Amino acid sequence: MTTSHAYAYGKLGDHDVLRAGFGAMQLNRGDAADAVKVLRRAVELGVDHIDTAQFYGPVNDLIRTALHPYADHLRIVTKVGAVTHPAERLVAAQKPEELRASVEENLRALGTEHLAVVNLRRADMPPGIIAAGDQVVDLDSQLGELIAMRDEGKIGGIGLSHVSLAQLRQALPAGVVCVQNLYNVITRGQEDVLIECAEQGVAWVPYCPLGSAFDQLPNVTDNSVVIAHAQRLGITPAQAGLAWLLGHSPATLLIPGTRDLAHLADNVAVARIELDREAMTAFDALAQDAAA
Ligand SMILES: NC(=O)c1ccc[n+]([C@@H]2O[C@H](COP(=O)([O-])OP(=O)(O)OC[C@H]3O[C@@H](n4cnc5c(N)ncnc54)[C@H](OP(=O)(O)O)[C@@H]3O)[C@@H](O)[C@H]2O)c1
Repeated sequence: MTTSHAYAYGKLGDHDVLRAGFGAMQLNRGDAADAVKVLRRAVELGVDHIDTAQFYGPVNDLIRTALHPYADHLRIVTKVGAVTHPAERLVAAQKPEELRASVEENLRALGTEHLAVVNLRRADMPPGIIAAGDQVVDLDSQLGELIAMRDEGKIGGIGLSHVSLAQLRQALPAGVVCVQNLYNVITRGQEDVLIECAEQGVAWVPYCPLGSAFDQLPNVTDNSVVIAHAQRLGITPAQAGLAWLLGHSPATLLIPGTRDLAHLADNVAVARIELDREAMTAFDALAQDAAA
């Protein structure tokens, strides 16, 4: 295992960011004061890339409470394509006018006039919401609306989430800065999209990098191979799983989610952890057992 300063930073569009960012979704429950502490600590530790969404309930308000006025270098990345619903928790909101309304809500809640990156969260495949009826919207019309908002200065960069390789390729002419798809060391169904991102200079931001958000996903920290190599290297299983993601592709930026200050420190430290060849090879082989 080695550490290197240069290894710690990656590109999100034109900006260098610490490769260990923070996914804020887990802050949608629990004590608000604790969530504010976690956000402030993340930034103190060097995190400059935070993933959020208006449909994560109170999370944007917590980010504003914790971090506003925002440091210039802080990239707050949000996503549109769904909205909260009183009965069903989350529903698709894929129409161009709904994307625009969601961008406006994010701007208002975060207390800013500009969003660093907005990810278009498609809803074509499980897990999560699936678009039906008039919510099945063609990608080009959505991109048209996002491009218009980028031209208006409301959005810095356009990202995609939960997309296929064909959709990524369709969207590339619009200028895509990142793709946020489900992927981790033991759930690797999206390798083709990752490869395309790396080739096209698009940041690859795997969501659920530890396998958490959906009940049906296996948890990285329960995997016996991950646990064994973590023990051998004197790091935690979570760090080992995250470090594999960084070592696997230079395009990768991490957004693990946590409410726990100790876990946060462990996760940020991963930006400077490079696994040895033995661990990389063993973890590469886990793809054969991958659930995705
Ligand atoms: N685009 C999309 O559709 C989409 C979907 C889901 C999520 N996301 C984004 O991706 C981010 C990450 O996904 P996620 O939060 O669902 O899952 P995750 O990062 O894979 O896992 C989070 C879980 O792992 C635990 N954990 C975190 N760090 C740990 C550590 N060092 N040691 C042990 N356990 C640790 C957390 O519990 P503790 O709180 O106890 O640490 C939490 O239960 C989200 O926050 C969200 O921003 C995007």
